[in-house]
Amino acid sequence: QELELQLEMLEKGGYDHFMLKEIYEQPRSIRDCMRGRIYPAEGKVQLGGIKEFAEKLKNIDRIIIVACGTSWHAGLVGEYLIEEYARIPVEVEYASEFRYRNPIITEKDVVIAISQSGETADTMAAIEMAKEKGATIFGVCNVVGASIPRITHAGVYTHAGPEIGVASTKAFTAQVTVLTLMAFYMAQQKGTIVNSKLVELLTELDCIPEKIHHALESNEQIKTIAEKFKDSRNCLFLGRGSGFPVALEGALKLKEISYIHAEGYPAAEMKHGPIALIDEEMPVVFIATKNSSYEKVISNIQEVKARKGVVIAIVTEGDTDVKKMADYCIEIPDASEAFLPLLATIPLQLLSYHIAVLRGCNVDQPRNLAKSVTVE
Ligand code: AGP
Repeated sequence: QELELQLEMLEKGGYDHFMLKEIYEQPRSIRDCMRGRIYPAEGKVQLGGIKEFAEKLKNIDRIIIVACGTSWHAGLVGEYLIEEYARIPVEVEYASEFRYRNPIITEKDVVIAISQSGETADTMAAIEMAKEKGATIFGVCNVVGASIPRITHAGVYTHAGPEIGVASTKAFTAQVTVLTLMAFYMAQQKGTIVNSKLVELLTELDCIPEKIHHALESNEQIKTIAEKFKDSRNCLFLGRGSGFPVALEGALKLKEISYIHAEGYPAAEMKHGPIALIDEEMPVVFIATKNSSYEKVISNIQEVKARKGVVIAIVTEGDTDVKKMADYCIEIPDASEAFLPLLATIPLQLLSYHIAVLRGCNVDQPRNLAKSVTVE
């Protein structure tokens, strides 16, 4: 027993929980994920795993992304990036719905299945169905040699290393990194991006691990904020554009490990229903970074403040406008819109972690949840 405990402490590398260790591993896991795949000076992305389909990618009509849970949120970020840079229409589907819907799939479709474990039953069934209909299937998996990488035609591993905490953290950011690389790779193949732009984007991407390291420095401040909200019963997460999947992911993290009811919404949808929930008891977390929807998010924050909601905002370093309105601001380093999901996710992971710890929850093994869901 004593030996087992010591072994576990050793595995946690000095952190109280695997989840915290995995959150802190992200500068390294993202670096590992990009290693040998990006050449910033040349403006080139190389993805050996899907190289043999490089020609096919020039002529595909659409991409369908299938996944569950956090991996589905990564898929939504992927949709945003692939459409923006490679100009290929993307549909993001819950694997569990897709498999039972008799969807229209042709040989010209590429299906990207995202799964940390590579064992999720619904995702596997969705792959088998799309494969039967003749689609080309790419996998984005973390566990090398798992079932999904074995049934896909090709794929790109995330290389985040083993993820023990049931709540996915470093696997999510690695999935987003791989999808970013895929979007750039497809754009490069299709010629929808000029080389100088790719040089610029890859140079910036190469610095993202350092920026994540910097974002992690807000840990103590986030812990203080967590103390204020540990007894909340509900929480809303709002964002626009690629900030929307980040909001969904923030809400999922909070509900799965702290058992606080949380919902993620596109910020503009608030006035179509969720606004009715807002009062002085309701914390609202906004992804309010400086990007194309910044001004719109500001007016959404004003709407919440007018109804006495409590606002926690994730803002770009040096922001002054949101600071005047929000009750709490957590800064992240400035970055191009393409990379904001990678940075904005970090404070949300830490916030849910600290709230769950303060509530005395079993952070690494939340009730009723398994690390891989091998039943439908
Ligand atoms: C994430 O925090 C969850 N535990 C869960 O939603 C998970 O992402 C989902 O079950 C999908 O798992 P997979 O990536 O291994 O397929």
